[in-house]
Amino acid sequence: MASPLILAVDQGTSSTKALLVDGGGRVVSRAAVPVAETQPRPGWVEQSADELWDSVRKAVAACVDPGLAGRVAGVGFSTQRESLVLWERRTGTPVGPLLSWQDQRTAAACRELAATGAAGPVRAVSGMPLDPMFSALKARWLLDAHDPDRRRGRAGELCLGTVDSWLLSRLGGAEHVIEAGNASRTQLLAVDSAQWDERLLELFGVPRAVLPRVVASSGPFPTVRDLAPLPDGVPVLAVLGDSHAAMFAHAGWRAGVVKATYGTGSSVMAIGDPAGEVPGLCRSIAWDLGDGPVRAVEGNIRATGRTISWLADLFGVEAGALLAELAEAGPGGVHFVPAFGGLGAPWWEPDAVPVVAGLSLGARRGHLAAAALEAVAFQVEDVVAAVDQAVGQVDVLLADGGLTRSEHLMRLQADLSGRTVARSGEHDLSCLGAADAAGHTAELWTLQDLERRHRPADAFQPAIDPAERATRQAAWHAAVRRSRPFEE
Ligand code: G3P
Repeated sequence: MASPLILAVDQGTSSTKALLVDGGGRVVSRAAVPVAETQPRPGWVEQSADELWDSVRKAVAACVDPGLAGRVAGVGFSTQRESLVLWERRTGTPVGPLLSWQDQRTAAACRELAATGAAGPVRAVSGMPLDPMFSALKARWLLDAHDPDRRRGRAGELCLGTVDSWLLSRLGGAEHVIEAGNASRTQLLAVDSAQWDERLLELFGVPRAVLPRVVASSGPFPTVRDLAPLPDGVPVLAVLGDSHAAMFAHAGWRAGVVKATYGTGSSVMAIGDPAGEVPGLCRSIAWDLGDGPVRAVEGNIRATGRTISWLADLFGVEAGALLAELAEAGPGGVHFVPAFGGLGAPWWEPDAVPVVAGLSLGARRGHLAAAALEAVAFQVEDVVAAVDQAVGQVDVLLADGGLTRSEHLMRLQADLSGRTVARSGEHDLSCLGAADAAGHTAELWTLQDLERRHRPADAFQPAIDPAERATRQAAWHAAVRRSRPFEE
């Protein structure tokens, strides 16, 4: 009998990727299908839930040779988190658009709620600060728009779900389910009990009947249907939030490591469950492999890769060309705080504004671009320092995501962090993590096998002395203070 294969699908913000992995964890084939987002008003970011499902079907069809489909032992999913869909339970038809995790339409509602004193209690129960990024206020907005008196929601006619929940329902699942890690990012789940919290549901106006049942990352999930060329009935063996899946693919459960994904924004995460407050960070569920939730601390930075692509657009050049140009220039005293839509972790300041400081008449676009790249590294280090405080000494920063292709950024990160930065050689790390978790459920490999398998491709050591690092960080923090005028 031919050896089994695992299919992994990563449904992300800008594309859906698929990987076919063999029993030794080697990638046999891969495919990617872009997905669109729209910005109908400033701050609003929407996607089509139907298009996301369609992109999954296309990515699977492009990745899996029909001759290999019979060898697929199971499927793993990794999904964008916090984004929210409302759909009709009976027909599966979406009601309104998917509200993206990036959507800021609930910023005013968030401020109003904070003014009532809700921020502290919400944070204590859910593990995360009141912020438009999380799903809870999106749930309220969607229900206010489509079920203002909640009659249909209470009657069980509507389903609310994150992207994992939506895709599982499209696969033909009779039951409405959500994976525990994704559920923990909704801000409706109590992070300690891993159950929906009645106080949060009441506060955000979400009837219990619209929510899915919370399931471990290893399932049980519905089996696949209508996902050619896979035969119907192939099991879904794992589902993880994308950031959590990347952590899994780094074998990031080991002590002393923290991972940073350099994507549109960045997620910095470490496994750990510190008691009490974790200033500047979220507590969430990383995964549950069937033996209980594994908790993590995480900080999300709104604009890292997005800052570079924005600047490249502004200058009318390719992002790659911009990165090459800036490596020559250095920031020349310029600091750029890319607080687009406010600042995320560790500041969580929605009213912060983007700031460019230190301009002189000699400043050129290379200086600004170099300052933007430095801002990526400074922002990541600000969160790593908070993680360090929360879970103990961080020795190694495990780096992944598109921007890690820049050697310059990796060296900069090591210098500004004063830590070893170990770079993954795999760019589709979330997808690989979904494959790893699915193969683990199928008992194709153990966690120890994964630790041996996932060695970083290379590592960068700090090359500046602590005094220079402190001076540069102080200048960065002065610029951050300017971007938060209401705080000081
Ligand atoms: O928290 C949002 C995150 O899950 C989205 O990730 O990779 O789709 O930008 P990505």
